[in-house]
Amino acid sequence: MKAFNTYGYVLIYNLLTALSPCFSSCLPAAQPITSKLDEGWWAYKDVVQESFVPVPSFWGLVNSAWNLCTIGKRQSPIDIETSHLIFDPYLTPLRLNTAGRKMGGTMYNTGKHVSLRPDKAHLVNISGGPLDYSYRLEEVRLHFGSEDSQGSEHLLNGQGFPGEVQLIHYNQDLYANFSEAAKSPHGIAVVSIFIKLSENSNTFLNRMLNRDTITRINYKHDAFLLMGLNIADLYPDTTRYITYEGSITIPPCYETSTWILINKPVYVTQMQMHSLRLLSQNEPYKIFMSMSDNTRPTQPLLQRCIRTNINFSKQGRDCPNNRALRPQYRGNMEDGGEGGVGSKGSSKK
Ligand SMILES: *[C@@H]1O[C@H](CO)[C@@H](O)[C@H](O)[C@H]1NC(C)=O
Ligand SMILES: *[C@@H]1O[C@H](CO)[C@@H](O)[C@H](O)[C@H]1NC(C)=O
Ligand SMILES: *[C@@H]1O[C@H](CO)[C@@H](O)[C@H](O)[C@H]1NC(C)=O
Repeated sequence: MKAFNTYGYVLIYNLLTALSPCFSSCLPAAQPITSKLDEGWWAYKDVVQESFVPVPSFWGLVNSAWNLCTIGKRQSPIDIETSHLIFDPYLTPLRLNTAGRKMGGTMYNTGKHVSLRPDKAHLVNISGGPLDYSYRLEEVRLHFGSEDSQGSEHLLNGQGFPGEVQLIHYNQDLYANFSEAAKSPHGIAVVSIFIKLSENSNTFLNRMLNRDTITRINYKHDAFLLMGLNIADLYPDTTRYITYEGSITIPPCYETSTWILINKPVYVTQMQMHSLRLLSQNEPYKIFMSMSDNTRPTQPLLQRCIRTNINFSKQGRDCPNNRALRPQYRGNMEDGGEGGVGSKGSSKK
């Protein structure tokens, strides 16, 4: 079951354990209908398969426990229109707390995402910024596209990025665990970082996506343990971000998430992006289906406001946003002064 390779990692093949809630509940397609009303029974896109699996427009219709996916008014992801941003100078920098320690974590192919779960011995939490509580890191999740023009869940002025890293945290001050927090007020905080392509890769993502590692999780349920990870390496060098109140982006779409979108991308290489696209949603004995384009379509902003501490040297007013003010902020993400996510080119940070 376990073997040590020369890098000192522990390899765990087909780790069908309770480490991920999905493994006990993501049922194969051949289950009876009743047990299909299950937390794993949904898909991002239509698939050629034996049976119907609901795509995003159906998530809220197939299971009454998921109705927020359809009727919710604070859903995620969204298209961030920079002209709608409200400048809030009181948004302090986010605090990342690792106690100076590196962490270990298990990387999974869940069939839907590349997912890294830190082991319980290494607590990482965030606080500050828009957050009133301390939130513990539960999962690092990757979304990515089949083409470079798409793959991020959030869009910026209608434009997608090749991918999006989501660091999913739960409120550890109020709740005992992730599942309780996910359905409760102020339960979740997601730090989101856009992925762009470059010749050099982010140090943290390189640990996950180098060929030796990523090919260990080619198929659904594959898992691979990584040690000595420094989560701080994943954060681009900036204290600027965009924040809004939304939902988790998979069923049951609970509207419990504070989103924090960092104003600088991280980079991966074209080769690493290619390796991601070669991951299968399926087990090895089933037909290959690329995991790419694992994104929920954007949802209406409606009455919500999107705040930022990116200083465009123009002061915002109060939220909710005043339409008359909006033109002043147009295009500001392009010249944030520190190579914001909207900046042109793909140079290394
Ligand atoms: C946050 O993490 C740090 C470092 O692991 C730890 O010392 C601190 O107690 C944590 N905060 C809470 C509220 O658990
Ligand atoms: C999460 O916490 C709740 C409340 O304490 C508990 O009932 C539940 O069993 C816990 N779930 C997991 C997966 O640990
Ligand atoms: C925003 O930037 C302008 C010009 O660089 C500066 O004068 C102003 O003090 C800044 N405001 C805040 C709140 O940082």
